[in-house]
Amino acid sequence: MNGTVFHPWPAHTSKDWNLKAMRLQHRLHAHPALQLDALGALIDSYPRSDYALVHTSRHGDGRARWREGDINGTPGRQAIDAIAQGSLWLNLRQAHLHGAAYAQMLQQAYDEVAAQVPGFCAGALKLGILISSPRAQVHYHCDLPGQLLWQIHGRKRVWVYPAATPCLQPEWLEDIAYTGFEFSLVYDPAFDRMALVFDLEPGQMLTWPLNAPHRVENADCLNVSVTSEHWTRENRRAQKVHLANAVLRHRMGLRARGRPLSGPGYWAKAALQAAWRRSPWAGAAQKALRPLEFRLDARAPGGLVDIAGAAP
Ligand SMILES: [Fe+2]
Repeated sequence: MNGTVFHPWPAHTSKDWNLKAMRLQHRLHAHPALQLDALGALIDSYPRSDYALVHTSRHGDGRARWREGDINGTPGRQAIDAIAQGSLWLNLRQAHLHGAAYAQMLQQAYDEVAAQVPGFCAGALKLGILISSPRAQVHYHCDLPGQLLWQIHGRKRVWVYPAATPCLQPEWLEDIAYTGFEFSLVYDPAFDRMALVFDLEPGQMLTWPLNAPHRVENADCLNVSVTSEHWTRENRRAQKVHLANAVLRHRMGLRARGRPLSGPGYWAKAALQAAWRRSPWAGAAQKALRPLEFRLDARAPGGLVDIAGAAP
């Protein structure tokens, strides 16, 4: 893209990177590839394997209900209109693999961080695009890779919590590595007293310390956000140690105390988790994919049709 992604880069940002949650200014919201018509065209050719469409509601007893669905050939721009009307979110995972513009903006953003933050080496990168309904929420969770949240359209509020007890227990990170499911955290509203709260508008982004738990609430408007993911060498090593500790606990009943990222202790855990990944039990520990329960259909009331045979 023309010009820098970050604008400006305040002087304190380099020393506070990954140590503090920070809201910075960016220019991605003006990028042509992130305007609604361009996103509609992207959806039109997006592979089924790389997106998730989710409808959220409540059961009669108030519990959250979460159903996965299919775009069903709905033109992308119409799908965005359906999201603007409903209780839906669409996650276009790995958009950097499906459009050169997304790969380019991702690489440029991290090149700028690497040029500003001494010692930062991003490693493998991913870019996702999240299109979500007015008032949609993302529940309390944390991510194993480093993550940045870029607001493109609409407004949202983000709560960022300390990456330490009681907001984050080491066993929760281990369970995420073991199950592949980020929502293994236990949220207590009392944590909110320890949270930093950020309102995000188009042209603003958030960065936070690795593994910091967070939750999100959209304002009363359609939201488009970009999430970028990076795996530094330390991130990858920590993930292997989390997985090894989870295997020791779940399969052998051993509670691991150490979380070494170097030396013989690290290499022993790296070998253990590698053996686990090759074992037949590893796949069974991962959360099963949800069945598809609805499809978009502009002719139906509410714009959704239940798929016959899906669980109520
Ligand atoms: Fe997240």
